[in-house]
Amino acid sequence: MFESKDKKGLLPVGFIGLGKYLPEKVLTNHDLERMVDTSDEWIATRTGIKERRVVSNGMVTSDLGARASEAAIARAGLRPEEVDLIVVATITPDMPFPATSCLIQEKLGAKRAACFDVSAACSGFIHALTIAKQFIAAGTYKNALVVGAETLSTIVDWKDRNTCVLFGDGAGAAVMAPVSEGGILSTYLGSDGGYGELLMIPGGGARFPASEKTIREGLHYMRMNGGEVFKLAVRAMTESVERIVRENGFTMDQITCLIPHQANVRIIEAMAERLGYPLSKIYLNLNRYGNMSSASTVTALCEAVEEGRVKRGDLVVLVAVGGGLVWGSCLVRW
Ligand code: COA
Repeated sequence: MFESKDKKGLLPVGFIGLGKYLPEKVLTNHDLERMVDTSDEWIATRTGIKERRVVSNGMVTSDLGARASEAAIARAGLRPEEVDLIVVATITPDMPFPATSCLIQEKLGAKRAACFDVSAACSGFIHALTIAKQFIAAGTYKNALVVGAETLSTIVDWKDRNTCVLFGDGAGAAVMAPVSEGGILSTYLGSDGGYGELLMIPGGGARFPASEKTIREGLHYMRMNGGEVFKLAVRAMTESVERIVRENGFTMDQITCLIPHQANVRIIEAMAERLGYPLSKIYLNLNRYGNMSSASTVTALCEAVEEGRVKRGDLVVLVAVGGGLVWGSCLVRW
């Protein structure tokens, strides 16, 4: 390794391998027209989403996460047994415990890794990479596998048109390690628990343990106040981008590519307008996948790199907001 520590004695950390896995089954807006009272036109104009992927044949979150991880580890030039740390962000773990990171570890054969999960909804990948970065920068671990993996199709009420049209399943993964050039320049995280009830699954935890009543009342499904979340999402994402760019001494015109959480194209357009940033420099894949919560930002980053939208030396900003509320951003020199 030839990277040198900064003034605080920390190593520069970057992404050395990215991967993604999307389940094969495609659910289009036209398919949804046959399930709830909606239309392709309504979904496309209100959200920008045309189709999403959903799991089938018993596939679960750890399966998606493991496949994305295999791709990321291979691109990083590592073997699974060389992975030191696995951090998985998910709101759809295979089960309450063991952690999905442990299940992915087993599927990968990453026997040496320490594992834990992070619960930060749609900002999960940014939260998870922020944690992993500290361990690597301090020299505690040589590398980390950070995964965003979701099977949101298992927590949406397929009879509720307000929510079921918005979400999809998928996974993305990133291997992080010390780098000799560029890397993560800064991360920023924020939260406001006062908005918790706007986006939640009320049942299935200690407050309303699974029972015949919770099932009858649909408390195990995702609930959302879409209008309020929309406004807060625009504000939180705009502020998170402005802050990380300004505090690191840059201006928006120096940012080559902005990779936002992929919830609704109208949220992204409103953010772009407030930032005075061209939509053409914002990476979008929500038309194909919908909102995949913690998997959205990392999958978008992976595709932006695969498609040559992000190249060596570019300045890239990742930004996300999710239930909690939680939000965060990450500034990377690619
Ligand atoms: N098909 C057709 N009509 C629908 C519909 C659907 N799938 N979903 C809702 N509607 C109806 C509503 O019932 C409402 O009808 P009403 O006026 O008769 O009550 C009407 O469409 C308009 O609803 P409104 O809430 O004004 O729409 P909107 O333009 O705000 O869009 C969302 C709704 C959910 C798409 C939007 O609020 C949103 O994206 N919010 C943020 C969601 C999000 O990103 N969550 C995750 C954040 S990480």
